[in-house]
Amino acid sequence: MDSYALLRPLLFRLDPETAHRWTLAALDLTVKLGPFNPFKKHLPKLETEVMGLRFPNPVGLAAGLDKNGDHIEGLAGLGFGFIEVGTVTPRPQPGNSKPRLFRLPEAEALINRMGFNNKGLAHLAGNLERLGKRGYILGVNLGKNKDTPQEKAVEDYLVGLEKVYPLADYVTLNISSPNTPGLRDLQHGKALDSLLSRLDETRESLAQTHGRRLPIAVKIAPDLSPAQLEEQAQTFLRHHMDAVIATNTTLDHSAVQNLPHGLETGGLSGRPVFDQSTSVVRRLHNRLGNRLPIIACGGILTPEDAIAKFEAGARLVQLYTGLIYHGSGLIDLTLDRLKKRQMHPTGEP
Ligand SMILES: Cc1cc2nc3c(=O)[nH]c(=O)nc-3n(C[C@H](O)[C@H](O)[C@H](O)COP(=O)(O)O)c2cc1C
Repeated sequence: MDSYALLRPLLFRLDPETAHRWTLAALDLTVKLGPFNPFKKHLPKLETEVMGLRFPNPVGLAAGLDKNGDHIEGLAGLGFGFIEVGTVTPRPQPGNSKPRLFRLPEAEALINRMGFNNKGLAHLAGNLERLGKRGYILGVNLGKNKDTPQEKAVEDYLVGLEKVYPLADYVTLNISSPNTPGLRDLQHGKALDSLLSRLDETRESLAQTHGRRLPIAVKIAPDLSPAQLEEQAQTFLRHHMDAVIATNTTLDHSAVQNLPHGLETGGLSGRPVFDQSTSVVRRLHNRLGNRLPIIACGGILTPEDAIAKFEAGARLVQLYTGLIYHGSGLIDLTLDRLKKRQMHPTGEP
């Protein structure tokens, strides 16, 4: 039995946010152990180039676990090829009142309505400035403050882009979190068109200033009709977006409605979002081919789940809920599985 399997029953006795804080604090301690860090490992070589960036491996941390960039080095030490911090908003905000995070162990799922609790852009940028040389790719996931009026939402993303431009390898526009009123409206029609057009324009001028074009990814919801997806895909291409992250959490709780906490308000993640999320990846890939890389996220609980995302057309994958249920061993197992697949693409030993 791996050590996380032993630890999990203890962690699951704590309320989810406390367990989360303690685990990250323990991880920070391992960084201080330097060469004696028990997580230090020899990682298989699985380099891949996406968005013009060289990823040491295609398995990343999804946004939301390290919203403030307070634990980047500890998380990178677990073997991720890329880490996405945030969602960060221009100003600090407390998020929704607690409880706002629920475990549904029978379904290997979580429901959250955190509401972008974070310490704001200045704090996150300070953390990024202090980082030393990095052996991983760093993304920053940008959002809007809850009290920013909808018609000024674009300004929040622009402030974020400008602030982290010299510090990040890529940014993600989070327009798909279900816990900020009105946010998902930015995913459609004129609102999406003008958001992306302003960001692309500003990126062009920042590229002149910094001598480097920063890739922009857009993170979408799994709850989209085929027509909405089609419209989005066209808009992403028109405004030179560099990747799509598919997907965020779902509002469809039908798979868990009979379980304890199944009807809590918020976004559902983990096993129940896998199929819906993978079909978004497949649909987008069929439509876009190689014109826009897809970063798959949603319900990856085993290495086979990750393989299914690549087979549906993803170029990179991200984990969140899988780490809560299976610990960092999921990263190692997935990397091993990918290495074997690379060596034996037809499945033969
Ligand atoms: C507690 C929690 C907080 C999250 N916070 C964010 C966030 O701040 N920004 C974001 O883009 N996604 C956030 N997510 C969504 C995840 O990044 C991911 O898209 C989603 O959980 C599906 O992947 P999973 O099934 O592997 O967890 C959060 C998810 C959870 C469970």
